[in-house]
Amino acid sequence: MHNTIKNFSQHGTFSFTPENLKRAEEVLAKYPKDKKRSAVMPLLYLVQEQHDNWISIDAMDYIAKMLEIPSMYVYEVAHFYTMYNKEPVGKYLFQVCRTTPCWLRGSDEILVSCKKHLGIGVGQTSEDGKFSLVEVECLGACINAPIVQINNDYYEHLTPEATIELIESLKIKK
Ligand code: FES
Repeated sequence: MHNTIKNFSQHGTFSFTPENLKRAEEVLAKYPKDKKRSAVMPLLYLVQEQHDNWISIDAMDYIAKMLEIPSMYVYEVAHFYTMYNKEPVGKYLFQVCRTTPCWLRGSDEILVSCKKHLGIGVGQTSEDGKFSLVEVECLGACINAPIVQINNDYYEHLTPEATIELIESLKIKK
């Protein structure tokens, strides 16, 4: 039996687009009706994808209503996992892995290249809103260290030169 969901757009500023509402229904269809709270993580991903790569409190409330669970449950999940952005970030979010395997393979130099060529520090967003930079713990791809994740993509075996090339290519990308 399918879970059906409603769009709660009248209660806040966030609501899924018709296309994402359909995708949310497909996500919910994967869970038993009495276990739909388990869909919270994929739905938060969907929010983030739609909402410029971050999740507002309003959007968390929207998901809570959709799943018929307390908002606090959604807040807890969103705040526990670092892959959910709880505040606005740049169009391209650089996540530089700093855990030991990446560090041993030169993540410090990768971070220096990012800071210098993005023109921002860790935890900052560029003035044009295009780039944000953060440091993260292991991204689970240590065998290909050092790693930078940009939005949903991994860039592996990076060198400072390759990092600079990557940054410059994104700078000219619309
Ligand atoms: S240590 Fe960087 S991906 Fe695991």
